Amino acid sequence: MPVTNAEASLVASSIEILTTGIAAANGPVWLACSFSLEDVAIIDMAHSAGIPLGLFALDTGRLNEETYEVADALVNRYGVRIDWYFPKHGAVEHLERTDGLFSFRDSLEKRHVCCGIRKVEPLSRALHGASGWVTGMRREQSVTRSDLVAIGTDDLQGGIIKINPLLEWSEEQVVAYTERGSLPKNRLYGRGYRSIGCAPCTRAVEIGEDARAGRWWWENPEHKECGLHRR
Ligand code: ADX
Ligand code: SF4
Repeated sequence: MPVTNAEASLVASSIEILTTGIAAANGPVWLACSFSLEDVAIIDMAHSAGIPLGLFALDTGRLNEETYEVADALVNRYGVRIDWYFPKHGAVEHLERTDGLFSFRDSLEKRHVCCGIRKVEPLSRALHGASGWVTGMRREQSVTRSDLVAIGTDDLQGGIIKINPLLEWSEEQVVAYTERGSLPKNRLYGRGYRSIGCAPCTRAVEIGEDARAGRWWWENPEHKECGLHRR
């Protein structure tokens, strides 16, 4: 399938966002990688354009096996190093001993406690000393992301630069890009998943449902952020 003009210009604009954001950060910049199609596309673009980008991933302890397989495929294909961050073991032990293994389904507050321990606290360690970070977020993904900007500052992370190179991409455009390059793809996408996070908080969606309907499906759409991207 030949590259369309529309795709070539989207890629060019994403590379421009990346290079401008990295220059603005003027220090270490990391891609936060959840091994989504979006993150894989960013890795591929950075690799093709010769943009050096460190990678980190937050291993919440509840990820799907299929997600780890993508990590392995990326290491094999691009020779990248992934810096993994785990939650603090004492906090997880306390959470599981006092509240059980599925407390996040009990209330929004308890869900935030779990995301806080397994994602938000490790993120702050991953970004310690960073001048900027890159995410695979897109505007159309959710009501909570409609006012996303390409390059901004992240007040929750001490005002460092936050770069969203795929903000204008549609889901179809991301899929087309990754298929054209036969990029590593989480096998769960083939089973009806369209947005993938922790195993117990993610499920496949029905045709016609919103792409993020399978994330924390028991919550309202305006609550579907885990704290990594709260503004
Ligand atoms: S979430 O907040 O709802 O979980 P989502 O899955 O849409 O986020 O991912 C958006 C972006 O957040 C990803 O492209 C990635 O940059 C970052 N991200 C999400 N989960 C992780 C993770 N476990 N490790 C590293 N980065 C992550
Ligand atoms: Fe916990 Fe679910 Fe948040 Fe993962 S997504 S950290 S399992 S509440």
